[in-house]
Amino acid sequence: MNVMNVDYTTKIPNNVNLAEDRQVLKALEGWHPGYLDWWNDMGPEGFQESLVYLRTAISVDPKGWAKFDYVRMPEYRWGVLLAPQDEARLVNFGQHKGEKAWQEVPGEYRAMLRRLVVIQGDTEPASVEQQRHLGKTAPSLYDMRNLFQVNVEEGRHLWAMVYLLQKYFGRDGREEADDLLRRRSGDEDSPRMLGAFNEATPDWLSFFMFTFFTDRDGKMQLESLAQSGFDPLSRTTRFMLTEEAHHMFVGETGVGRVLQRTCEAMKAAGIEDPNDIEKVRALGVIDLPTMQKKMNLHYSLSLDLFGSEVSTNAANFYNAGLKGRFQETKIEDDHRLTDDIYQVLKMVDGEIKLVDEPALTALNMRLRDDYTADCAKGVERWNKIIEKAGVNFRLELPHTAFHRQIGEFANVQATPKGIIVSDAEWARIRNDYLPSTADGDFISSLMTPVSEPGKFANWISPPKVGIDNKPGDFEYVKIAA
Ligand SMILES: [Fe+2]
Ligand SMILES: [Fe+2]
Repeated sequence: MNVMNVDYTTKIPNNVNLAEDRQVLKALEGWHPGYLDWWNDMGPEGFQESLVYLRTAISVDPKGWAKFDYVRMPEYRWGVLLAPQDEARLVNFGQHKGEKAWQEVPGEYRAMLRRLVVIQGDTEPASVEQQRHLGKTAPSLYDMRNLFQVNVEEGRHLWAMVYLLQKYFGRDGREEADDLLRRRSGDEDSPRMLGAFNEATPDWLSFFMFTFFTDRDGKMQLESLAQSGFDPLSRTTRFMLTEEAHHMFVGETGVGRVLQRTCEAMKAAGIEDPNDIEKVRALGVIDLPTMQKKMNLHYSLSLDLFGSEVSTNAANFYNAGLKGRFQETKIEDDHRLTDDIYQVLKMVDGEIKLVDEPALTALNMRLRDDYTADCAKGVERWNKIIEKAGVNFRLELPHTAFHRQIGEFANVQATPKGIIVSDAEWARIRNDYLPSTADGDFISSLMTPVSEPGKFANWISPPKVGIDNKPGDFEYVKIAA
């Protein structure tokens, strides 16, 4: 079969020849009803019968892989899609560098590899659970459609990881696949595996921040898994990255449109001081200092997803050829890193210092630094919007030590500028830097739904162009009565 095109004749659309892989097909078909139960329980609440203008992957050809049409979400064709195999592909880093890429799981790395797949897999349904109430307060049909697009694709990413578990990890893979449907975001007894995926996403600003900052962590993790010497994992994650780009687009343009609207409203009302919060809020838009606080929160939560700065696990994953660096093959070094160093921010005698560490154990820190650089570019694009509107205000990423729960800075309190403060001082200034309950209440008060085609809530600007080039008044969701 041609891997570019997807086989829709089996119950599970795929380009991995499932029709002739009876055992895996059976395992996936066995898992399918549980998945649908999970989707109906934990997927977008209240819109399962609505017709949503969604894209579905029908090919993995970069030139044209998606088709758009109205779909009821439970009928979305969640498929298993891998980027085409490159027969000549090698293991490109670690102690096996230069060997042919593995088509089967190397026995000695089975447990490590399974763990990587499960951790990635667990994040996918988690964000759907976190976002399930947002449909009811969507600021427009355009935004509602984007939310649902992100949701169904996170569902597909879960399928992608479950395929790997069921095809390559036998019985324990099947058990892990079932557990992925059992855990729940924020649940006391069986929470999702990573912190940020157990936080609430209570409003649309949180959703946009989440898709900018937390989906971008996802991008970095997928990029490093796309380097894997285990070829099926590489091929799976490469195609997931194609979809992931839209999620970050939703986040970046979402926040950008909020900034745009706030600045325009301020200008129209003749408000020059962005810190005159009450006056700005009286216009029914979100003031810029609150935007900064939301950013502080979501960025710091996402930094925690990279794990400890110094980690032997990260070194082991790399040595084994399972998880590489961001853009590994474009880096010019020996790709083994056995004698290299990397500078890591650490607490030394109560001060934050850059310390030399073996490059191998510092790989989490390195990936996090690449992430920060990627975030910073987006923040600059946001600042351009503010600047162009003629408002005197700049958004800034907080210091790495700010508001951390994992790693070197988990036990200290620091300001966004990276100044260490006492717990008492922190308690006093916390609400200057992170959203307070009152900030959250204000944002919630703006979340009234707008469902007339072409109309947008007052706190957000319309997008510059429609999805699939549709006109401004296109009915992206036909809401079922
Ligand atoms: Fe995803
Ligand atoms: Fe995503």
